[in-house]
Amino acid sequence: MKLHPLWQEYPTLQGELSETLALMEKTVKLKNKPVEKAVLDMIHAGGKLLRPAYQLLFSRFGPEQDRQKAIALAASIEMLHTATLIHDDIVDQADTRRNLPTVAARFGNDVAVYAGDYLFVCCFKLLADYAGSLRSLQLNSRSMEKILNGELGQMDRRYDLNMSVSDYLDNISGKTAELFALSCTAGALESGNSEKFAKQCGEIGLNIGIAFQIIDDILDYSQPESQIGKPVLEDVRQGVYSLPLLLAMEKDHAAFVPLLSKQDQMTEADTQAVYQLVQTKGGVTQAQKQAQRYTEKALKAIRKLPDDEQNTRELLWRLTKQILDRQN
Ligand code: IPE
Ligand code: IPE
Ligand code: MG
Ligand code: MG
Repeated sequence: MKLHPLWQEYPTLQGELSETLALMEKTVKLKNKPVEKAVLDMIHAGGKLLRPAYQLLFSRFGPEQDRQKAIALAASIEMLHTATLIHDDIVDQADTRRNLPTVAARFGNDVAVYAGDYLFVCCFKLLADYAGSLRSLQLNSRSMEKILNGELGQMDRRYDLNMSVSDYLDNISGKTAELFALSCTAGALESGNSEKFAKQCGEIGLNIGIAFQIIDDILDYSQPESQIGKPVLEDVRQGVYSLPLLLAMEKDHAAFVPLLSKQDQMTEADTQAVYQLVQTKGGVTQAQKQAQRYTEKALKAIRKLPDDEQNTRELLWRLTKQILDRQN
């Protein structure tokens, strides 16, 4: 199984990430072959494995070094992430993910719903088998609730011209940042660190996750014009207003109202006009500044982490800087 090329620069993580993938694969066993195939194909589709990486790195700080358990927890978190992606693509009616057709596009919505459900099952199977305490199960189920609430918050605000930046931040804190926070918290806690330290680690994850989602949303608005069609068209047409647009609307609300009021009837030209407006009103630049703020917060807190023989703090710093500097 091939790891994402990102990990070539992190040789000390590669082994455990490969084991994480292998354990994910081993956990999947279903009589229903289409669902089994959908899940396995998704596991092999080349996801970046960022959440397991953070979980594994933070688990190096603790006094209890049970690497099999750390790998099992990493696998459980990635399975949870994969489930949310499969379900997200159904809701978003997306046809590609990881440069491949989505599970729903290939196998239909029914298989995709069950594939996502089965991945939730796998997540809890791994947790139940390996987590040392009920604490991890508790943390995981709370995170799932927050992720769901983030998604529901986003759905409730669809086409809402009065949606605020603070609503957006609440939604992405749940739907995306919570899983990064969980990775860091669980890694620290399950290796025997104090609750206090684990909470600090969770804060780092939260800031990384918020910056990560903001950057993902900026990419929709910062591709060359020839490429913008799809993502902008989809998000805006579906009434999902992200940070660049919200910040631009703060500058000139009236300019957007006639275009956005058309909701799912917006034409290609309307979408292009929104795209242009977001640029000229400084939405992209302002959103970049906000992403930078969360990135800096995370990096600053990482610098304060304890030193260890494996240079974990340095790796965390480098990885965070790298993924939050991405331009595509
Ligand atoms: C995608 O997350 C969903 C967002 C939070 C934007 P990743 O970019 O980590 O997805 P994979 O797992 O690498 O495909
Ligand atoms: C990302 O949702 C968060 C989850 C999958 C729960 P988005 O819809 O914003 O992310 P992409 O762009 O599909 O990866
Ligand atoms: Mg989506
Ligand atoms: Mg979505």
